[in-house]
Amino acid sequence: MATHGPQYAISEYHDTDAIYARLRALIGQPMRPLRRERLQAVLDYFETRCAGSQALTDEAKKYIPGGVQHNLAFNYPFPLAIARADGPYMWDVDGNRYIDFLQAGGPTVLGSNYAPVRERVFELLQSCGPVTGLFHEYELKLAQLINRFMPSIEQCRMLGSGTEAVMAAIRAARAFTGKKKVIKAGGAYHGWSDQMVYGLHIPGTRRMEATGIPGGASGHTQEFFPNDLDHLRRLMMFNRLRGGTAAVIVEPVGPESGTRPVPRQFSAEVRRLCDEFGALLIFDEVVTGFRLGMGGAQGYFGVRPDLTILGKCVTGGYPMAGAVGGRRDVMACFAAGIGGSGERAYVGGTLSANPLSCVAGYYALLEMERTNAPAIAGRAGDRLTRGLQQIIERHALPFVAYNQGSIVHLETSAVMLLDFKNPLKLLREMKPRKHMMEEMGAAYMAQGIITLAGSRAYTSMADTDDVIDDALDRFEYVLSGVEGAE
Ligand SMILES: Cc1ncc(COP(=O)(O)O)c(C=O)c1O
Repeated sequence: MATHGPQYAISEYHDTDAIYARLRALIGQPMRPLRRERLQAVLDYFETRCAGSQALTDEAKKYIPGGVQHNLAFNYPFPLAIARADGPYMWDVDGNRYIDFLQAGGPTVLGSNYAPVRERVFELLQSCGPVTGLFHEYELKLAQLINRFMPSIEQCRMLGSGTEAVMAAIRAARAFTGKKKVIKAGGAYHGWSDQMVYGLHIPGTRRMEATGIPGGASGHTQEFFPNDLDHLRRLMMFNRLRGGTAAVIVEPVGPESGTRPVPRQFSAEVRRLCDEFGALLIFDEVVTGFRLGMGGAQGYFGVRPDLTILGKCVTGGYPMAGAVGGRRDVMACFAAGIGGSGERAYVGGTLSANPLSCVAGYYALLEMERTNAPAIAGRAGDRLTRGLQQIIERHALPFVAYNQGSIVHLETSAVMLLDFKNPLKLLREMKPRKHMMEEMGAAYMAQGIITLAGSRAYTSMADTDDVIDDALDRFEYVLSGVEGAE
């Protein structure tokens, strides 16, 4: 296994303007869905080859709202039930094998069910079980390791999920600064807490998805249009007289894991604005944390946030994956024990920071460092992206493929690129474009590939050149069946 090589998953930063030019062209023209006979073949696949999945998820609908619990599992025409995962593959209950570009939604950079980590987890389970409620040495070991990889994280606190960690970070930012407003980039997902279900997925949508959330809960949340630093500045100026900006929270590669990519200097400029207005900079590294490299996006971009949110990779795919970390003076807000600041920002969680999560995270991160997994996964992402771009070109399609290392985007309907600057188009096209993306996701599945919602692929260290080339043959078959493909 390679122990040298590039440290980060991104080998060359993308040409952001060129990507937007292609994305704008894609969203500006009529959709190019699968030809109907190809779609029929996809539906036939599900009906004839996935009967076990259908029976299980149909039965589940009686006991579980909608039949599946996970947003990413909600696939067209019906969800698959997975029985086994290993390295780059997953198998459904009917025995069909899939190349796994979901990778559990991002955490498993080492590949699924990686044995050396699993063995450490087994050992821990034998010795003390998954949880005791008291301190365990692996909490310290993991915190020390995170600090070694991301020095901005002087202290950290493990929580149950990325969502919880975002909630905690915002609470600490408000407690520390005494200010109220929190600004996010429109379209970004920072978990499902009351205050963050605001401007979800599509910029400008504000409270559109806030069913069940009282207005006041997100009354101090604001969104700026992605990449629009002037807009961000205007909001911060506006806030000066209205409670002040406690924090700006961004995904460093852009909203939705870089679906709306940012220019390379973007994070540094947000840092400057935060300094000018006395706001804390929160990096949401739930996806980028350790996937872009052991130093995270902050290491890659060379920007030091005040607080960082980690999730997913921080426990190597084991539950419960969430951490907030950063400046010691800000983190003192959380101190439950020795040396607290007195003004405590309340956080908790019966299972938070349990030994199982911490041992899994500790060994997963060590293995990722030892094997250079983020960079290897990044090279796989490069190979997949290059291949997809060639297929798109060969068939004269308007689709767009680009990547930030092991985060690979394949936009065919570009639904995520709609926004409230053109509300009529948004209302008219959102549903059909979303459905087209679902159809594409189903078509990839019928060809033995699982993607994230039909438009993203996470690669892992397990994706050898052979796996990627096999995947490309399968993608080529699907994309050659699109209307008007040459
Ligand atoms: C950027 C980002 N932040 C926060 C979250 C929420 O994390 P969790 O699902 O662990 O609550 C996610 C989840 O996908 C995410 O992608």
